[in-house]
Parts: sequence; structure tokens; C-alpha cells
Amino acid sequence: MRYKAIDPQLFIRNREKLRALLPPDSMVIVVSNDVYPTNADGTMPFKQNADLFYLCGVDQEDTALMLFPDAKDPKQREILFVKETSEHIAIWEGAKLTKEEARAATGMDRIEWIASFEGMLQQMIPQASNIFFTTNEYLRAHPVVETANDRLIKTCRQRFPLHRFERLAPLMHQLRINKEPQEIAIMQQACDITEAGFRRLLSFVKPGVGEWEVEAELLHEFVRRGSRGFAYQPIIGSGKNACVLHYISNDAVCHDGDMLLLDVAAEYAGWNSDLTRTIPVNGRFTPRQREVYNAVLRVMRGANALLRPGNTPNEYQQQVIELMEKELVDLKLIDAQAAKNQGPDKSLVKKYFMHGTSHHLGLDVHDVFPPHQPFGVGMVFTIEPGIYIREENMGIRLENDVIIGENGNFDLMRNIPLEADEIEDLMNR
Ligand code: GLY
Ligand code: MN
Ligand code: MN
Repeated sequence: MRYKAIDPQLFIRNREKLRALLPPDSMVIVVSNDVYPTNADGTMPFKQNADLFYLCGVDQEDTALMLFPDAKDPKQREILFVKETSEHIAIWEGAKLTKEEARAATGMDRIEWIASFEGMLQQMIPQASNIFFTTNEYLRAHPVVETANDRLIKTCRQRFPLHRFERLAPLMHQLRINKEPQEIAIMQQACDITEAGFRRLLSFVKPGVGEWEVEAELLHEFVRRGSRGFAYQPIIGSGKNACVLHYISNDAVCHDGDMLLLDVAAEYAGWNSDLTRTIPVNGRFTPRQREVYNAVLRVMRGANALLRPGNTPNEYQQQVIELMEKELVDLKLIDAQAAKNQGPDKSLVKKYFMHGTSHHLGLDVHDVFPPHQPFGVGMVFTIEPGIYIREENMGIRLENDVIIGENGNFDLMRNIPLEADEIEDLMNR
């Protein structure tokens, strides 16, 4: 097996937690994502709908989940629909889950073939008053295609115009921000795989190496350790490329004297890690590079102390910007007096640090969250300050993943080299 099967207790518990949030007489219907086309008969790699995965753990297309806790017939309280393996599918793609396998993976008793899903909608929906569907409500999402769940909503609205249709997203966001111990254990595995990839790089990177070669080294290490690959498009930017926040072409040669920014991490079993390190291409920081590096590191540590229960995302970001302002003044990038005179938008700081410091992490890399929710114990966040100095050909970002704990945060990336001295030491062995 590529990775150890996930204990279905996780999904059983997730469904239980969702049921506890539902008003009486409610049904939840979630379907898998489409397999998206590219050109001709090509397709994108399949990516499961994260809510569906969270509730049942099935990572297969043509899957549908119906939850109807108040159903009179106990057999109608939880139904999963999966794709039946035909002779054609067996030959071209390999077998899909059997009903038995689906039962074992999900902890659900009733498994049906997806071919019966349409008919079951007609039987089930008239029995409930509120129907919950999932929509992509991520604040910065800008979807340009209609999803399978969007289509389902449209169809059901037409067929059952007098039902009450409800948003599942706020409930899922509330649940998904609090990570179960099993999720944390899997995310720790993702971080450990990421660590192995990063350590491999430290002896590989040198002047003349291509950013794409660094990408290949990482992918090799991730996949051989059971990951299906990068958690997100890797950003491997040397020199001024490090100042392009979403640089993903990774097609330049790394030059002597430059820094190399690596925003690269592995997924594992569906969960993500998210790491950034910035290293000197030739294995030695210049005094200026080290000075900027240590400034970012201090902000990272300061942010960790602020990412604590009760603090809110907006206040936190403002507080981190204050920490960063002090560092930018000390680095002589901002004049102290000008810093005092700048407006509340902190435009002088944002010239060098123009992105958020933290985001939730989980089944999605930028994981879903209820807006304005204060930080709380059990949430997993990244901490990723950066200083980008285009005029000095340098961008430095550092990023670790932490769980907010009662008495401090627990760093899932505590074993990944971070101090400048340690990085130099490992690069020069
Ligand atoms: N790798 C994406 C991010 O750091 O948010
Ligand atoms: Mn990242
Ligand atoms: Mn991140």
C-alpha cells in the first residue's frame, strides 16, 4: 500500500459532528468533484471534493453521500453511492471500490451504486424539509466553472422548488478548522516527508543547478515516501524570482551569490503540509543575506507567540506588521521617521511584506474557515512572514506549520532545519 489505510473512525466521528449541527428534518447531499477535461481526451488529475472526503474518506470520482439523520427508516440515515466496476472500467482503469471495500473505508453500512443516485433523490428529498448542499465559499475563491455540486443544486431547485435549501459550507468550515488527532498524525507524516525532501536538497543545491532540477529532487523524495506529490504547485525561485509570490515556472538557473526560495511541501493521504525555506545557493549566507534572514526568523517566532487562542486574524496580522516594521527599520529599508508618519494602511511595510502571515491548513492548503473566527486550540496554521527586496535581488520567506495548543503552539516542522548556521552546516558537509 502507498499509505496506511485511514481508520474509518475518523469519518464516523466527522459525520457525527455534522449531525450535531443540523436542525431537525435535514438532509445533507454532497457529490464528488468532476474529472476536469484538458484538451482532446485529456483530463486533469482527479481531486476529490474536500467536504465529501472529510465526511466519508472516499477518494474516487462518481461518489455521492446522503445523510438524513431523522429518517423514519434507519436504512435511509446514511447512504453512500459509488461507481460500479464494469468490464470496460476493469480493463482500462482498474477496479473501483467494491461495496465491501467502501464499507470498510467509510464505516457506513449502506453502500449503493451511483447509477441509483438520481432515483434515490426523488425518493429521499420529499421526506425532508431542509436540504444542505456544499458550495465553495472560500473568501478568495474565484470559480470560473460550474462544479458537480453546483449542478446538483440547480437540478434539485428545479425539481423541488418549495424545499428549503441550506448552506452546508458554514457548518463544514466550523468543523474543519478543528483538527482531530488522527488528522494531526497524518499532517505530521506529510511534514516529515517534506523534511526528508528538504534535507535531500541541502546537499544538492549549488551554483549552476536548475530550479526545475530542485523540483525533480523533491518530487522523487516525496513520492518514494508514499506521498502522491506536491501539496501545491512548488515555488522554487532563485535571486529576483523569489520576489514573485506565485512564481511556479521554476525554469531559471541558480546563480552563485543568490538566495533560493523554496515554498515546497508534500501531501500525504489527502492532507497537506506547507513549508518555505530560503537558502544560499552557494551554501554560505552573505552578511546582508543573513541579516535579512534573521529578521524574518525573528518575525516568524514573534508571530508564533501572537498566534494564540482569543487573538483574531485581523488583529494578529496588524501585530505581525508591527513586528515587521521594526525589522525593516533596523534593516534600513524604511526610514524610522517615515515609518512613524505612514498611515494605518502601513504601505511602507507592505512594499516589502505584502501578504498574510498565516492560513489554516488541512485537506485544503488554504483550508476553509469561518470569517473572523478567533484562533483556538486544535487549529492548524502556517506562519510565513517574508521580506522581498527586489532592488537587492532577494526574497526571503520562512514557513512552518503549527497546531495551537493550550500552553503554546506545537510545531509540526520542528525538525526541519531553520537556523542559518544549521542550513550552512548541512550544505557544506
Ligand atoms: N504554498 C502556499 C502558501 O504558502 O500559502
Ligand atoms: Mn507555502
Ligand atoms: Mn502557506
